[in-house]
Amino acid sequence: MAEASREQWRSHGGFLLAALGSAVGLGNVWRFSYVAGEHGGGAFLLVYLLVVLLVGVPLLLGEFALGRRMQSESATAVARLLPSSRWRHAGLIGVIAAGLILAYYAVIAGWVLRYAALYLTGQSQPLATAGFAQSFASHVAHPSQPLLWQLLGLALTALIIARGVERGIERASIALMPLLALLLLGLAAHSATLPGFGQGLRFLLQPDWTALSQPRVYLAALGQAFFSIGLAMGVMVTFGSYQPAHRPLPGAALTIALGDTLFALTAGLVIFPAVFSFGRDPAQGPGLAFVVLPELFAQMPAGALLGAAFFLLLSIAALTSMVSLLEVVVAYALQRWGWSRPQAAWRLAGLLFALGVPASLGMGPWGEVSLWGGRGILDAMDFIAVDLLLPANGILLAVLLGWVWPRHEALQAADLHGRPLGAIWHGCLRYLVPVLVLAVLAGSGTRH
Ligand code: TRP
Repeated sequence: MAEASREQWRSHGGFLLAALGSAVGLGNVWRFSYVAGEHGGGAFLLVYLLVVLLVGVPLLLGEFALGRRMQSESATAVARLLPSSRWRHAGLIGVIAAGLILAYYAVIAGWVLRYAALYLTGQSQPLATAGFAQSFASHVAHPSQPLLWQLLGLALTALIIARGVERGIERASIALMPLLALLLLGLAAHSATLPGFGQGLRFLLQPDWTALSQPRVYLAALGQAFFSIGLAMGVMVTFGSYQPAHRPLPGAALTIALGDTLFALTAGLVIFPAVFSFGRDPAQGPGLAFVVLPELFAQMPAGALLGAAFFLLLSIAALTSMVSLLEVVVAYALQRWGWSRPQAAWRLAGLLFALGVPASLGMGPWGEVSLWGGRGILDAMDFIAVDLLLPANGILLAVLLGWVWPRHEALQAADLHGRPLGAIWHGCLRYLVPVLVLAVLAGSGTRH
């Protein structure tokens, strides 16, 4: 690693947008909407907002601070904090989580790519004719078609990583992300005119207090926060390492976490009014956005065009997230096995494709397979990575940042030295995050 000449963000805005670009992906549209729909809407959102503020922001700031202070990516940064300990292998949890997530993320990205292709080639009409739910169901259940789209997504990702052009792709996507935000805002404005707007709004914003007595709501919110912000995989450590010393980090962490949340919230404001206007079930699971959005486009003026723009932009958002995720696994392989970059990219993408095949088949031919409390294959992979591995790694990260890193160094690195907020931040990492995350994991474990 050429540390003396480490590349730095040219502007604060560049840093914010790049980190936000990594955070914004399918998690904000696809995952947020279906998980919120499954867990009671408003109750979920309330817990989610609390988790983002109390767990997400402190950990995000911690990752940034660690990366900038150590001027290195995650594994090296962690190793420097733990000069002679076996604990440094704990970073492997994040690598495994990233690989597992990418394996099924590619399946969902494949669905997005396929919808983008349909709209771009003017073939969205049959979705309406055959029925939106039916079209989606028959696409994902097809034994080979979704595999091709999944393969295409992973191949593009591997190509970008193999060529080492991810910074370039990132810069390009930065320009497109505000477009996606604008489009979502426009769609939300349209959703506000739908007959089911009031009902959708109440569902998303008005907590059903009885839902809060279910432990799984807390675990779902916690996992979603880690996933959506992109925490506990070391990615944000790397972002922090490019950030020049004179730019304060706390505001950046808050802006990124809130920006990511606003993205998800806006997607929710698009989707839930539509769900109720069309008489759909908000708790229908991972297909929610893919069933409801095409129906929304079908009854909008210029809907085919908007649908094309939307799925194209979402494809790009998904691709940039996939690039970041593959980079985590590739970086590990480069360091560990000394493969060349292209070798690592193609081999690992191949491996992760193979790992994702059962997830895709589980939506159709292998639909009967039920793992771990009645979960389908994709659902089970998602559960292990997002609801177990990421929170577990979050605890390790909080302990590392809050206990192993000397307090004054951590505070200085986070630009919070001698500030009242510093005590709160450090207290969160030291006590609140480990205890809260452990309690949520344990609480949901006892009742499954
Ligand atoms: N945050 C991304 C999304 O919402 C997914 C993701 C999780 C991710 N962890 C990541 C992306 C790490 C990049 C890096 O879709």
